[in-house]
Amino acid sequence: MVYETIRCELTDGVATVTLDRPDVLNAMNQAMRGELVRCFAGLGDDDDVRAIVVTGAGERAFSAGADIREFVEPQIPVRFRAQRRRLDFRQAMDGCAQPIVAAIRGYALGGGLELALACDIRIAGEDAQLGLTEINLAIIPGGGGTQRLPRLVGRGKALEMILTGARIGAAEALRIGLVERVVPATEALAHALELARAIAQKAPVALRYAKEAVVKGLELPLAGGLRLENDLATLLRTTEDRLEGARAFLDKRKPRWTGR
Ligand code: COA
Repeated sequence: MVYETIRCELTDGVATVTLDRPDVLNAMNQAMRGELVRCFAGLGDDDDVRAIVVTGAGERAFSAGADIREFVEPQIPVRFRAQRRRLDFRQAMDGCAQPIVAAIRGYALGGGLELALACDIRIAGEDAQLGLTEINLAIIPGGGGTQRLPRLVGRGKALEMILTGARIGAAEALRIGLVERVVPATEALAHALELARAIAQKAPVALRYAKEAVVKGLELPLAGGLRLENDLATLLRTTEDRLEGARAFLDKRKPRWTGR
């Protein structure tokens, strides 16, 4: 699929989605949002995709958020109705059973940080600057930020960030659990790809169920989450890959997963 505002490449089971508007720090316009919906919907349906990496083109930004130039365009009522109906690309990301790793260099602001929050694991370069800066423009995060940030870093820190619109650096982001790793800026993408490739080597059905157990389980009371884990763990006992994993261990060889 050819896109105008993003790139999507698949190598060895790892899809790399690159926000590709470096002149405006990968700000997200309507075209990019539409392309991200189509891209993630397609990746979610593709069994050849075992893991996904999301990154920004250029050296300065993951994404500086919504394209502010579109804020001053005349508002057309029909667009509001269309927006209400449209599937947000972060919902399309939630529909991806595969793990999604964000490689964050430079700015991840507003919708850019919300995109990173919709990923499963975040790797930041030392130059990363993260913030939900919407309040500075008299708006609030509308791409899941008010919901995903407090679930990740707690209510107080999330409110501090959302109410002040302040940016935090990579070290602080690591300290509060907003990112999982901080690496030299030029190595963020390489680390994310290495992690995604390592994940992509695992048995496909086990990978999907592991993510489902954690992500869906977090939305449930503990008893419901344990039920879900038990159901998925039991279902995995029916796979051919489970037998292959045990046989490969006993034969002292690398397993050959079939995804069945
Ligand atoms: N929307 C549209 N264009 C943006 C943008 C955005 N969110 N963020 C940056 N750009 C553009 C700038 O207008 C500039 O374009 P120009 O070269 O045509 O003037 C280019 O990207 C480079 O940005 P610039 O502001 O010159 O870089 P800087 O290093 O001085 O500042 C930021 C970087 C990220 C601090 C600053 O651009 C910024 O605050 N951007 C807005 C971030 C934001 O509020 N996002 C949330 C939106 S809800």
